[in-house]
Amino acid sequence: MQLRLDKFLADTGYGTRSAVKDMLKQGRVTVDGAFVKKPDIKVDPEKNVVLVDGKEASYESFEYYMLNKPAGVVSATEDKFQKTVLDLIKDKKRRDLFPVGRLDKDTEGLLLITNDGITCNKLLAPLKHVGKKYEAIIKGRVTEADVLAFKEGLDIGDDKPTKEAVLNIRRNYEEGDEDFSEIDVVITEGRYHQIKRMFEARGMEVVYLKRLSMGKLVLDDTLKPGEYRKLSEKEIELIIR
Ligand code: URA
Repeated sequence: MQLRLDKFLADTGYGTRSAVKDMLKQGRVTVDGAFVKKPDIKVDPEKNVVLVDGKEASYESFEYYMLNKPAGVVSATEDKFQKTVLDLIKDKKRRDLFPVGRLDKDTEGLLLITNDGITCNKLLAPLKHVGKKYEAIIKGRVTEADVLAFKEGLDIGDDKPTKEAVLNIRRNYEEGDEDFSEIDVVITEGRYHQIKRMFEARGMEVVYLKRLSMGKLVLDDTLKPGEYRKLSEKEIELIIR
């Protein structure tokens, strides 16, 4: 694969194309040991060695990160006022990363961040029925009647009822005189506030929500909220198949 030097450097995280052009003009870039000032020469990331200020610029076409999203951060690429999930990925190279599917600002858990749009579509395409598993704390007493209602589909105010969801009650407990339930649930759609609206339709409220998995990709439980790591080769295989 060959690409223009300015694109190579921009993709590698050295700034916009025009910032990169300035860097080139300043004589900060060498290709295979020779200083290069022209932005349009072609380089092959597999063959040519590109140095910026003497340091190698390594090119990655695709990056995949697993983030344990903390509450309080928005699932967007940029936001004028609020911290975004991309602000948390400190060692990213690519400038075209985005989160695959949104989590609400107050939701925690697994978020895949990549620039691989094809995989993203595959993971999100409703036809693929990729199961997304969440754990939650519900204000209210979740019962077998709710398990059945989730299985049969709920009217949450959209055109169509929700598709079959598998609800599992881990435990019911009381705090003061309030009932709470700890549950997990697998949904195959990704509608806006879906889980919150499903419990609302049953007269209850989600007070804590965390995504545990998306398809075969499972949140690494050693990652604390706000921490992330690159996907392993094995995990990338799991999601791109
Ligand atoms: N369902 C919700 O209600 N919120 C999320 O963030 C994800 C699923």
